[in-house]
Amino acid sequence: MNPVGRLLQRNQEILARGARTLWINLPEGYSPGADLTSNSEYFFQDYSAFVNAGGASERRTFGDFPASAAFEYLVLNLPKSKARLAMMVECLASGMAQQGRLWLAGENRAGIRSAARVLESKFEQVEILDKARHCALFEARRAKVNGEFEPGDFLTRWSPDLGGFKLEVHSLPGVFAHGRLDEGTALLIESLETLPAPGRILDIACGCGILGAVLKVLNPDSELVLTDTDALALSSARETLVANQLRAVVVGSDGFSEVSGHFDLIVSNPPFHQGFATKHSHGINMLNPVRNFLRPGGQLLLVVNRHLPYQKWLDQAFGSHEILAENPRYQVLQACKPRTANRPAR
Ligand SMILES: C[S@@+](CC[C@H](N)C(=O)[O-])C[C@H]1O[C@@H](n2cnc3c(N)ncnc32)[C@H](O)[C@@H]1O
Repeated sequence: MNPVGRLLQRNQEILARGARTLWINLPEGYSPGADLTSNSEYFFQDYSAFVNAGGASERRTFGDFPASAAFEYLVLNLPKSKARLAMMVECLASGMAQQGRLWLAGENRAGIRSAARVLESKFEQVEILDKARHCALFEARRAKVNGEFEPGDFLTRWSPDLGGFKLEVHSLPGVFAHGRLDEGTALLIESLETLPAPGRILDIACGCGILGAVLKVLNPDSELVLTDTDALALSSARETLVANQLRAVVVGSDGFSEVSGHFDLIVSNPPFHQGFATKHSHGINMLNPVRNFLRPGGQLLLVVNRHLPYQKWLDQAFGSHEILAENPRYQVLQACKPRTANRPAR
């Protein structure tokens, strides 16, 4: 269990008195004890955490913003991005019951100390309940915010310089490359313009949806599927599609877990992080089943940090690969699934 989970565990007896509690993004490895679960519900913004959490499925929800009015306690695990924290605190403060309390727990290195100021901007009363193992737990009461929370107030709308055409990209705080064009993404987009028109396309780990949107503009007749584990990335991708009048299927998925069918083209700028840790194997693990989702002749296009072992992995999975573009930090790699002759059955 991570240290934030341990801190919550040693304070959870306060909640065990029967308070209706909404746990938002449980810390990894932490599961509230049996005496808490009957009055608890669980809200996840991360699909992988949602499916791996276990427990009663009717009390678990995956989504972008929780409805908090019915709960006495809201327990929020500190998000990684400060801007996402501000948005979540406003969301919870504006929706919660008058007598409700918000608990916020996190590690010092993730910024829990300065998070107190964010709570103070939205609540009359903020106090520290506990601190240990380089973590702290705050309680906030008497929300100052009145009125509806409007996610659109937190959207950044921007137009990346894509040379050939215009695209409006929308992203919510904490989504990868929020409000800016990532250097790796930009390199991959340059390679997309020279591709033969694909029929069915998957943008896996889509973030704000920029790669999928570019592909759909370039190939209006294609069928596009976008997936990500982060509910706020999915909301951003949906906003990006709507802003550009593009149609696609957008799905919450842990890697390929919710993907079905086969594709002519799979593109990705794969993740580097898992939770707070940087895990070099995370993107490769996520992509491991990719070959099974390509049609014969289908291709995989990735932009990767050049020091990561993607070339070796592609050679193992596909037999070979090509480097389509590179700069000092990134490489665009392509691998194809061979066309196999379709022999009629005798
Ligand atoms: C480097 S970003 C790329 C985003 C977007 N394609 C772009 O280029 O701007 C990687 C994305 O992977 C997502 N991600 C991380 N782990 C995942 C998993 N297990 N399954 C699906 N998506 C995941 C993250 O939420 C993030 O949006």
